[in-house]
Amino acid sequence: MLVFTVITIFPEMFASPLGHSILKKAQEKALIAVHLVDPRSYTTDRHHVTDDYPYGGGQGMVMKPEPLVAAIEDIRARSPHARVILLSPQGAVFNQRHAARLAQEKELVLICGRYEGVDERVKSFVDEELSIGDYTLSGGEPAANVVIDAVARLIPGVLGNESSAVDESFVNGLLEYPQYTRPEDFREMKVPDVLLSGDHERVRRWRREMSLNLTRERRPDLLATAPLTQEEKCRTLAVQAPLYIALLHYPVYDKNGQVVTSAVTNMDIHDIARAGKTYGIKGFYVVTPVKPLQKLARKIIDHWQEGYGSQYNATRKEALALARISDTLDDVLIDVERESGEKPLLVVTSARAGEKRASFTALRDMLRNNTHPFLILFGTGWGLTEAIFSQANYVLEAIEGTHGYNHLSVRSAAAIVLDRLLGQY
Ligand SMILES: C[S@@+](CC[C@H](N)C(=O)[O-])C[C@H]1O[C@@H](n2cnc3c(N)ncnc32)[C@H](O)[C@@H]1O
Repeated sequence: MLVFTVITIFPEMFASPLGHSILKKAQEKALIAVHLVDPRSYTTDRHHVTDDYPYGGGQGMVMKPEPLVAAIEDIRARSPHARVILLSPQGAVFNQRHAARLAQEKELVLICGRYEGVDERVKSFVDEELSIGDYTLSGGEPAANVVIDAVARLIPGVLGNESSAVDESFVNGLLEYPQYTRPEDFREMKVPDVLLSGDHERVRRWRREMSLNLTRERRPDLLATAPLTQEEKCRTLAVQAPLYIALLHYPVYDKNGQVVTSAVTNMDIHDIARAGKTYGIKGFYVVTPVKPLQKLARKIIDHWQEGYGSQYNATRKEALALARISDTLDDVLIDVERESGEKPLLVVTSARAGEKRASFTALRDMLRNNTHPFLILFGTGWGLTEAIFSQANYVLEAIEGTHGYNHLSVRSAAAIVLDRLLGQY
């Protein structure tokens, strides 16, 4: 049995939620018990005062520490292992994982604040603080009811059908698939055929697929921690849009603001190709009009594609298979269009902060929800020129660190950009 002991100045607020349906039955079956403790009974003054004015001034009242702490200590003296939780908007946001953890306990003490909250010093006597969401309630009672409900239904025997707690939203880290009941046809909206097929394996696969799609669409944040197979990860987390990247060595600025051609470097080719392969990029263009530099780039790529490097390191061979050499940006645009069937949307990157930048989140959403090809440009030297900026469909916001230093190498910047746009968050 799991005992919930609720410390509240409004015990009546629990009568209805606990007096019906599943929670009522759980108490009748002695799977849970709920004790309500009024902190007023721990006051020593004649008027049973539980609140007082805030030090430092300001509106409202604050719950006094003495009655609350006396109640906690009394409960702890009787149940030393009780886990004491303060419901508070400043706590960790309560979720299914918290519920599963708390369902393992023998006794939970839930403290409901009121007014402007509880005296800060009460927090030294609790094990944790939990919030039920990013909004402010008038008191902890609705929050305590939420915690009791979510925890109790995980206790074996509380739900009539044990498996219903296994399939539900959040239990497996995903949102639940759509459910249907009779009639088969409601206002010309039909129940999906697969659910009428009687083929359990097909139904299971359909439900999993729906769950994944719904979660991807509505709560992509859940996908980062949901247990997915490798194949599901590729399918669900991969962006829809074919994504290409290009490293421009011309036209770029030098430190005096002159338009120049920069040198091709071995490390950029390797590292950007490897980052590109990690994040599922379709092609990585090394752009320079200078023939000897093209020859150098070709030599590096061929070494790992066909030469000794290809036998020495197979994964490097895989990454460098993405690398292509082009004379100009126009050639890249033509090549991407030829391969993907559409002219790509051009995204330029820059270390300089500026107005009208597409945020990483906005571009991430576009890549997830679009099937149109995108080409992201990275500049060498002191950055891409105005002429290139003027061709862009989007200018991506700059990567900003935390200490004002803003001189990343292009290969580091490319890795960070790819992770922000395509990584698992
Ligand atoms: C009006 S609130 C106090 C808000 C407090 N002044 C603040 O801004 O953090 C009164 C009580 O309601 C409860 N409460 C309010 N919002 C909550 C939430 N999102 N989750 C859990 N408890 C909440 C807490 O017990 C809190 O002490």
